[in-house]
Amino acid sequence: MEKRNLRSQSWFGGRDKDGFIHRSWMRGLPPDAFDGRPVIGICNTWSELTPCNVHFRELAQQVKNGVLQAGGLPLEFPVMSLGETNLRPTAAMFRNLASMDVEESIRGNPIDGVVLMCGCDKTTPSLVMGAASCDVPAIVISGGPMLNGRYRGECIGSGTAVWRFSEAVKAGTMTNQEFLDAETCLHRSPGHCMTMGTASTMACMVEALGLSLPGNAAIPAPDSRRGVLAHLTGRRIVEMVREDLRISKILTREAFQNAIRACAAIGGSTNAVIHLIAFAGRVGVPLTLDDWDKYGRNVRTIVDIQPAGRFLMEEFYYAGGLPAVLWKLAQQKQLDEGALTANGKTIGENVKDAPNWDREVIRDYDKPLVEHGGIAVLRGNLCPDGAVLKPSAASPHLMKHRGKAVVFESIEHYYERIENPDLDIDENSVMVLKYCGPRGYPGMAEVGNMGLPPKLLAKGITDMVRISDARMSGTAYGTVVLHICPEAALGGPLALVREGDWIELDVDARRLHLDVSDAELAKRRAEWKAPEPAFKSGYQFLFTEHVTQADKGMDFDFLMGCRGHGIPRESH
Ligand code: FES
Repeated sequence: MEKRNLRSQSWFGGRDKDGFIHRSWMRGLPPDAFDGRPVIGICNTWSELTPCNVHFRELAQQVKNGVLQAGGLPLEFPVMSLGETNLRPTAAMFRNLASMDVEESIRGNPIDGVVLMCGCDKTTPSLVMGAASCDVPAIVISGGPMLNGRYRGECIGSGTAVWRFSEAVKAGTMTNQEFLDAETCLHRSPGHCMTMGTASTMACMVEALGLSLPGNAAIPAPDSRRGVLAHLTGRRIVEMVREDLRISKILTREAFQNAIRACAAIGGSTNAVIHLIAFAGRVGVPLTLDDWDKYGRNVRTIVDIQPAGRFLMEEFYYAGGLPAVLWKLAQQKQLDEGALTANGKTIGENVKDAPNWDREVIRDYDKPLVEHGGIAVLRGNLCPDGAVLKPSAASPHLMKHRGKAVVFESIEHYYERIENPDLDIDENSVMVLKYCGPRGYPGMAEVGNMGLPPKLLAKGITDMVRISDARMSGTAYGTVVLHICPEAALGGPLALVREGDWIELDVDARRLHLDVSDAELAKRRAEWKAPEPAFKSGYQFLFTEHVTQADKGMDFDFLMGCRGHGIPRESH
């Protein structure tokens, strides 16, 4: 790109009063900093309230070194950081808000290209969505996963171990003191969750989409090679600006198909469904829930990582990381090798002959962990607009199941009842949770994997069919139907389920059915009253007024569609 066409030159290039103001206030920079070199924004989600991203200041410095070396001008800026473990009611409720922060920070400033520093779950989608909306050259550097957790000689994984241990305490097979001892053993280093939870999944998704340099997803956060990649990312974004390689040239439908298949191969989080549909919406690429089933269904899960498998991201990196997985997909004709990526090469060129050093962790395609990976998209009278289930995290014996509903009208109702020994529930029951969708519990709380009743855990029951309009943590597991659309708070059929109704799940047939007559459902619908909106002001009000359903990406209706990299009018 020629210097005069750089966005930043409309701030820094003028010889008039405005040019004076824009340059003069940028203290400490020599005059030639404004000579038409690409200005690179480094979009940093560092925050002490986001412990997964707490090492980002040092990582940003390594990005800056790369930018300077390539002849760019790096300018770091903070954006809202979303810490999954601390933010209430849900970090996901703030994803769209943070994306607006990112978009307007880029759009309103003299930025020619941007490095997106992503880590904890929602920081990746919020940054990609914001950059996509203003369609500038953008590249992701992820913070990387933590080192493996270790407890009493066993490797333990973020989230997954917590769910397992807390159920063991309820079942009486682990003491509370042992549970608390494990707490300090789980998170030993900087970085995001090291299971194939949402953060690792989204890091893999940006790599599969071509938005990062190859190998970005798996390098552990404390590994010096993470810093090298940050440096190279800084160098590369300067070239991307010169090539005018904007994000919309990378986020094509072919790239999304590749990412969906990659998600199936790694046994990725169901949250990726929502985020990738939202990404596509921001660049105007048509992507539906059914695409997830269509492109992922015949892909085998070959990565043996928790929660679906045994290992953790550290082993995944040593085994070859995502390039090794993508190369196996390419060999199966399950990768569109022509999709363009951030380094200017196609994804096929990037992953060709990528080595696989450990066939226990990344299995051969004919020895998969799960024969049919991917995300199953269910339909039926209980979810006319769809619902999802992750087969690799589910129990084979429950994939076809008919059971009586035990209904929880809210998550509070669930907590009130679940430990009651008199609760009429057994292992064949179907646990139903309502009002946890995008509007009902703003942001769709990750409560879909409701813990089982202690009396059944004590019997050795480890899984039951659970259905809801909620999400589930990517680190969780079980036969869990999620994201039911439309949600209960909008009067979806889920709102009409009553205790004792029969529910049929048939994952192979992609069917979820409430065995209640149409006439009875019509009668219940006439009696149903919409819940009072929980929020009448503030951001929560904006969220509930404008959020779309899970099948549309839970984005705001007014943010969908690419708005391009136009420059706002001068304010002086
Ligand atoms: Fe940050 Fe899991 S809590 S990635």
